[in-house]
Amino acid sequence: MSLAGGAARTLALITGASGGIGAELARIAAAQGHDLALVARNRAALDALADELAALPGQKNPRPLVLDLDLTAPGAVDALAGFLEAQNAAPDIVVNNAGYGALGPAAAGSLSEQLGMIDLNIRVLTEISLRFAAPLARAKGRLLNVASIAAFMPGPGMAVYYATKAYVLSFSEALSTEWAPLGVSVTALCPGMVPTGFQQRAGFSAHMNWTKLGALPSPVVARAAYDGMMARKRVVIPGLLMKLFAWTSPLAPKPLTLAAVGALQLRRRAGNGG
Ligand SMILES: NC(=O)c1ccc[n+]([C@@H]2O[C@H](COP(=O)([O-])OP(=O)(O)OC[C@H]3O[C@@H](n4cnc5c(N)ncnc54)[C@H](OP(=O)(O)O)[C@@H]3O)[C@@H](O)[C@H]2O)c1
Repeated sequence: MSLAGGAARTLALITGASGGIGAELARIAAAQGHDLALVARNRAALDALADELAALPGQKNPRPLVLDLDLTAPGAVDALAGFLEAQNAAPDIVVNNAGYGALGPAAAGSLSEQLGMIDLNIRVLTEISLRFAAPLARAKGRLLNVASIAAFMPGPGMAVYYATKAYVLSFSEALSTEWAPLGVSVTALCPGMVPTGFQQRAGFSAHMNWTKLGALPSPVVARAAYDGMMARKRVVIPGLLMKLFAWTSPLAPKPLTLAAVGALQLRRRAGNGG
């Protein structure tokens, strides 16, 4: 337990909780009785979610802590840690979910957009993981890092994004071994396509057909993530089709994988594919 009072209480810190998978994870965690600390830039969306969760029937937990913060800003993770300390709160669960992708050839778009992915998806995720190692160890807690099915293959047409997610998977699996003796589990979530704000942010065509290629709704993905994290699984891949991709892609000839993934990104830009 981490919060003052109430022996059974646990605090889940969730980044990128203003929408998409993060907001759904917050809904599930709240329903399961965890206290919450929600972080993203969009204060209005965080407040709306906190109000919604505080009003859940039978809700006994306090209103979620809310922090509007650009996690890529200098000193942001220090500010996050200071915010929690000021509330006398330490997380038992940390969910590194904030992240974004950018569709298109790496050298064709904005360089700061490309480097920003490395900053948020890799540096911030790493800093938060390590920064909260001590409270997680005290709590014998859980770390959930959101990777992607993209972690299992190179991604021409989204090269930097795919590479960031390969890092997240590699880092998380290694950390799960380092932290196992401490009783802390590390879970990497590797979803395929999930219709959220992600696609618009990444520049996908608005004419995408979400039913193609095994897209799953964010509540389904969040449920699989939560259950896998609570079961202390090392890797969670929601959906049978994505499991098949993950298992078979390392076996496929690399030129075939590169051509297939590159073609997929072209279809996403044109809006005629999943
Ligand atoms: N959707 C998919 O198909 C898919 C598939 C595989 C993996 N993923 C991964 O799932 C995670 C969640 O994505 P999503 O699909 O739920 O997309 P989303 O709806 O766009 O959510 C992204 C979240 O990250 C937050 N965020 C972005 N930049 C931030 C910053 N600088 N500082 C703090 N928070 C920031 C956003 O909040 P603000 O804008 O309010 O800051 C938002 O809450 C990401 O890591 C993504 O790579 C998504």
